[in-house]
Amino acid sequence: MSFQHLSSETDGAISTITIDRPKALNALNADTLNELEQAIDRAAGDDAVRVVILTGAGDKAFVAGADISELATLDPDGAAQVARRGQHLFRKIERLGKPVIAAINGFALGGGCELALSCSLRVASESARLGLPEVKLGVIPGYGGTQRLPRLVGRGVALELITTGEFVKADRALAIGLVNHVVAAEELLPFCRALAEKMVAVGPLAIRAALQSVDEGLDVPLDEGLAREARAFGALFGTADAREGIAAFLEKRAASFRGK
Ligand code: CAA
Repeated sequence: MSFQHLSSETDGAISTITIDRPKALNALNADTLNELEQAIDRAAGDDAVRVVILTGAGDKAFVAGADISELATLDPDGAAQVARRGQHLFRKIERLGKPVIAAINGFALGGGCELALSCSLRVASESARLGLPEVKLGVIPGYGGTQRLPRLVGRGVALELITTGEFVKADRALAIGLVNHVVAAEELLPFCRALAEKMVAVGPLAIRAALQSVDEGLDVPLDEGLAREARAFGALFGTADAREGIAAFLEKRAASFRGK
């Protein structure tokens, strides 16, 4: 499958999706969102793919937001539809069942920041700038920013970023927990691949269950989340992977997981 606005390459168990519209700083127009959904669906359906890295082409931008030229023509119904379309895709990324690492190589603004927020974790290059500048356009974040940013960094910091529309540099993004790591630009993809390799080495069913437990647990009362965690923990004990992982530890050897 070939794409016009992104590339998707799989190396071993790691799939790297690179959004590639450099003339618009990798902004997400409708076609790019459609292609991104196809690439995500493909990664979801391919058991050999265990981790996805999402990044932007070039050294200037991860994704500079939704494509503002497409927003210019929207009426209220059309705009709500555009928001739901992006939200649907980003929720799909969040619920992929495989870790998705955002490798933020430059501007991650508006919908680009929201895309990064829907990933499992975020690694930024030193030159990255993140923000939700939608209020400067007279609108608000529409791809989940008002919901995911406060869940990640807390209400006060999120409201500061959302109501000023100001960008934060990588070091501040790290300080507020918006990104997990900041690395030199040339180290960004190698660092993300090294992180991904660690995730490839462990049990895929455990990873899927952990992602689901955290995702669902954040939206339910603690006791309900704990009950769900116990059920998922129990279910894993019915898998060959858990038997293998525990036996391998006791036998002092490397585990060989099969996703079963
Ligand atoms: N949509 C469409 N085109 C964009 C774009 C976007 N989000 N961001 C940048 N571009 C285009 C510019 O129009 C410009 O195109 P031309 O060369 O044809 O003029 C090209 O990319 C390069 O951009 P700049 O010349 O502006 O580059 P700069 O270095 O001076 O500034 C920037 C970089 C600060 C990122 C600036 O481009 C910018 O502020 N971009 C918009 C960021 C933004 O507001 N994002 C939020 C979009 S709304 C949204 O995302 C809604 C939502 O939640 C769903």
